[in-house]
Amino acid sequence: MRSIRHSLCTMVLTLFATAAFAQTTTTAPKLDVPYVPTPQAVVDAMLKLANVSSDDVVYDLGCGDGRIVITAAKEHGATGTGFDINPERIKEANANAKEAGVTDKVKFVEQNLFKVDYRPASVVTLYLLPNVNMKLRPVLLEQLKPGTRIVSHAFDMGDWEPEETMVVDGSTIYLWTVPEDKKIGKSR
Ligand SMILES: C[S@@+](CC[C@H](N)C(=O)[O-])C[C@H]1O[C@@H](n2cnc3c(N)ncnc32)[C@H](O)[C@@H]1O
Repeated sequence: MRSIRHSLCTMVLTLFATAAFAQTTTTAPKLDVPYVPTPQAVVDAMLKLANVSSDDVVYDLGCGDGRIVITAAKEHGATGTGFDINPERIKEANANAKEAGVTDKVKFVEQNLFKVDYRPASVVTLYLLPNVNMKLRPVLLEQLKPGTRIVSHAFDMGDWEPEETMVVDGSTIYLWTVPEDKKIGKSR
């Protein structure tokens, strides 16, 4: 039942990829991806798949309520930053970090995910859309250090083969490691 519900959420996300988002007010941020939170079991699996530890700096691009970065800090001792264009999400994420007692390890920044300086990250997490992943791919490859792990919930990166995939509660998770020879991931 949970996996059916989650597959439906992923379908909704995909449908949004081709639809123009209705803007209810002139000040509403223009979202490239609608807000659908990753179920906690999938968050846990993503962080485990990426082997996140206290040495890591985790960036979640489009962080929603902050659950991925907060779990990385609370359960794995990592530090991290979540970026979201929607100020409501940033407010929620900050409140959740406070409640989880990890405000010394995480921060949340209201920022367009395409304008982030990705270089400090050692792990990047994504729950976006196929076209957004593909747009990010060359920029991540350009900026991220070899050895940086990228974990994506539900969507792949075209012909950049993941080194591992797993299915949790009906959701596929993909793992890549930025190679020394960055041409590998760039070819298309
Ligand atoms: C599918 S949700 C994922 C939330 C969270 N990462 C998770 O897995 O639970 C996508 C998030 O991306 C945010 N978003 C959409 N377009 C964005 C953009 N251009 N820059 C930053 N955040 C964006 C949305 O506000 C939403 O919170």
